[in-house]
Amino acid sequence: MIDEKQTSRVKKNFNCASIIYDMFEWLPEGRSLNWRERVWFHVPTGKVLEVGIGTGRNLPYHPDRIRVIGMDLSDGMLAKAHNYANRLNYHIDLQQMDVQQLAFADDTFETVVATFVFCSVPNQIHGLQELKRVVKQDGRIILLDHVRINKPIIGWLMDMLNVFTHLFGENINRRTVENVKQAGLKIESVTDLTRLGLVKLIVATKHDQAV
Ligand SMILES: C[S@@+](CC[C@H](N)C(=O)[O-])C[C@H]1O[C@@H](n2cnc3c(N)ncnc32)[C@H](O)[C@@H]1O
Repeated sequence: MIDEKQTSRVKKNFNCASIIYDMFEWLPEGRSLNWRERVWFHVPTGKVLEVGIGTGRNLPYHPDRIRVIGMDLSDGMLAKAHNYANRLNYHIDLQQMDVQQLAFADDTFETVVATFVFCSVPNQIHGLQELKRVVKQDGRIILLDHVRINKPIIGWLMDMLNVFTHLFGENINRRTVENVKQAGLKIESVTDLTRLGLVKLIVATKHDQAV
């Protein structure tokens, strides 16, 4: 079920955040080193959906061999992505949409990518099921996100703090790997990009891939 109230709160918050998003994101971006390269390097030729494209931070990493549709819940973020794409002279199809109810037919995309999106999607499992629906039978879903640290005290602290961050539409205690499985996807790989497993690169498929 979609929580309409929380979804519109997330939308409103990101519309506001879009004004300053790129100013504040330089810090994690600097530390992330090659995270975005790692996401896009392995995306094969074909049609790609970038979910929650935000202000377009991934645009410079899109390989030439792919055709991308970018979508986001927030008009404000999309407007920034549009401006950035213009500056890069990059013609990309950008659409306003909620990942919890995608307006695409089943089996449309070779690859679906989302970076730092599923921490704020109200019904994470429902959104992940939508990715499963729109990716092709032999396609891949690539997620880069921060998750709940699976350690007794830190995990508990994240649960406590989440009560506040949730009010701003941001969740810091998501069990995204478990939720990917719960959404019916098959995990192909999980790579820890930080100590304690805070940020993970998750690759999932619709079905078990033949070896
Ligand atoms: C933290 S930003 C990340 C943006 C970008 N992917 C990046 O890596 O910089 C999260 C983005 O997800 C979008 N988002 C949140 N919930 C969404 C939803 N239900 N459907 C589509 N986009 C959503 C937000 O509007 C925002 O642009």
